Amino acid sequence: MNILVKDPDIIRSMFDRIASTYDILNSVLSLSMDRLWRKQAIRSLDIKWDDAVLDVGTGTGNMAISALKTSASMVHGIDISRGMIDIARSKARAMGLDSRYILCLADALSMPFGDALFDKAMVAFGIRNMRDIVPFLEEMHRVLKPGALFSVLELSTPGNWLFRIPYSIYFRYMLPWIGGVISGKMGAYTYLRDSVMRFPSPGKLAGIMETCGFRVVRIIPLFFGVCHNYMLEKTLDHSSIP
Ligand SMILES: C[S@@+](CC[C@H](N)C(=O)[O-])C[C@H]1O[C@@H](n2cnc3c(N)ncnc32)[C@H](O)[C@@H]1O
Repeated sequence: MNILVKDPDIIRSMFDRIASTYDILNSVLSLSMDRLWRKQAIRSLDIKWDDAVLDVGTGTGNMAISALKTSASMVHGIDISRGMIDIARSKARAMGLDSRYILCLADALSMPFGDALFDKAMVAFGIRNMRDIVPFLEEMHRVLKPGALFSVLELSTPGNWLFRIPYSIYFRYMLPWIGGVISGKMGAYTYLRDSVMRFPSPGKLAGIMETCGFRVVRIIPLFFGVCHNYMLEKTLDHSSIP
């Protein structure tokens, strides 16, 4: 079975299986840089206390909890994996944040929300796992208010060739091995490698985002372009795009 087809059932069961080691492996594999990247993404959203905030592919809650600890009064988190959501819920409960974190088990390609509800939204390391980028962005466009800000954090292949060589060795060979040893699920970490390597470049992704009715406000490369933070603004009514 080709996991890169990104069938939601396969993605769901993969995240269910790695949920218990997800946070520790993120720290190990990124040398804890993932925390800084998430914080930067949340800061750039400039969340106000009365903003309605959506965290898509909320996973074990790292983005939502960070937003709740800083400026958000309430965050809606949506994910297809029960295993990931269960961990998010227990982390939020341990921090006394659970009453402000509304969790929903659902597919991001058809969200159980009305139109134009959210002021701010984020997806961290989630867009790459969606079955199709365009329907996902169209669904995001639907649930956001006009003028809403949407932060997309995603891994990428570094542009600088000097850095790309050692990084490729790490990413191609060491990362799946370390991920496999710690989680016991080698397949999930070869999927991580292959899905990043086949993901559209930042320039191409920005073009797709624009065709889905978003203005790309800025793209920030993080750590030599290992990761990018895209800040989008919902501008046009998508149906009016020629
Ligand atoms: C790499 S994890 C990122 C989790 C979290 N955002 C973080 O920063 O750690 C990707 C998450 O997206 C979720 N996901 C993948 N496809 C999804 C979909 N179609 N709808 C909702 N969630 C999805 C997965 O279950 C997983 O929890």
